[in-house]
Amino acid sequence: MTIRSTARALLLSACAGLALTAASQPARAAGSVEVVHWWTSGGEAAALNVLKKKMEGQGVAWKDAAIAGGGGAQARTVLQARIASGNPPTAMQMLGYVIQDWANEGALANLNDVAKKDGWDKVVPVPLQRFDKHNGAWVAAPAGIHSTNWVWVNKALFDKVGGSVPNSFAEFLALAQKFKEAGVIPLAHGGQPWQEMTVFDGAVVSAGGPEFYKKAFIDLDKAALTSDTMKAAFDQLRKLRGLVDPNFSGRDWNLATAMVIRGEAGMQIMGDWAKGEFAAAGKEAGKDYVCFRYPGTQGTVTFNSDAFAFFKVGKDQQAGQALMAADVLSPDFQVEFSLLKGSAPARNDVPSDRFDSCGKKAIADIKEADARGSLLGSMAHGHAAPEAVKGAVADVVTGFFNSDMSSADAVKKLAAAIDLTR
Ligand code: GAL
Repeated sequence: MTIRSTARALLLSACAGLALTAASQPARAAGSVEVVHWWTSGGEAAALNVLKKKMEGQGVAWKDAAIAGGGGAQARTVLQARIASGNPPTAMQMLGYVIQDWANEGALANLNDVAKKDGWDKVVPVPLQRFDKHNGAWVAAPAGIHSTNWVWVNKALFDKVGGSVPNSFAEFLALAQKFKEAGVIPLAHGGQPWQEMTVFDGAVVSAGGPEFYKKAFIDLDKAALTSDTMKAAFDQLRKLRGLVDPNFSGRDWNLATAMVIRGEAGMQIMGDWAKGEFAAAGKEAGKDYVCFRYPGTQGTVTFNSDAFAFFKVGKDQQAGQALMAADVLSPDFQVEFSLLKGSAPARNDVPSDRFDSCGKKAIADIKEADARGSLLGSMAHGHAAPEAVKGAVADVVTGFFNSDMSSADAVKKLAAAIDLTR
């Protein structure tokens, strides 16, 4: 045998082997999907697994591309590099304005066939459609609705200090003081820019109400941005800074939630993905933990909706992609996912009976806020303003939290930083 014929023989036998392996595999009805996301905490991974399992059951191979980092900044950076090198994933977890950015680039696929067939226009709340549709085409499928203006409290500690739900920021500080006197850290916090921003969403609503939040963070009105009300929001943040432990810097959000779960800290201000961590730890709402809105924000919901945006991909991925889009908005997935994730469903027609008290409250609050015009996009999570503005706000908010900057200086810096993005 010559070298060439040996090579050919080897190749042929390898091909035969491949064919055999393929034949012995279960039928792959709809190919494969590669999904980029940052859901790596216990609750997040459990929730995403619902989709993975559902799709695998339908014969679709799931390639997981997890990029750790709450808030998703790292994942978004990786995505940019992948798009630049012409290698988009089938789908990626995406938030608000970023979806519109990629749609503007012409990178996203048109899901209208699936959306029309399954009636998405009728069941997805209108404030979400503004992000998931682009020029009349559905380009993303929302997995749920989170909100950022929540407080999560260890129930045993809450009872021990004789706590009651605070209706104002002053009452919240009084509750924090009780935790301090009981020898626990009043506020579990993870010192990362997106977490400080998450807390600040609540502070802005608390200081000025929904109209003010809208003027400042959605309309980017200069008078609102530099107002005494915005100063009052920074004053709240300064007070909160005084309630955290010395090791907060760089801490991941789920580790902060774990401090509340373990009773090392009394409370955490965080979006309701924190509820997913309590669920993953086997903790029950009302029994092991208490939830209430950031003090002074009841009636307003600063929302953050995770959606899967779908990229223009080759034929080999298109069937899996269409199936994934349909699965994400299917009523059963919306419920199973949200129960584990801590979100509310992104459809307005699914029953809420299986949700616990915090989940039911989330669903009712969203409905009420939507009706009164106070379902407002979260600045921290890219639903209030474009990425450049969000980045500018994050720099100022984090700069403030991690220094002794005055509130007066902060509002000046905030307006100037936002001006630079215009
Ligand atoms: C947000 C995301 C949430 C949650 C959080 C922490 O950006 O929308 O679903 O996962 O990050 O990772």
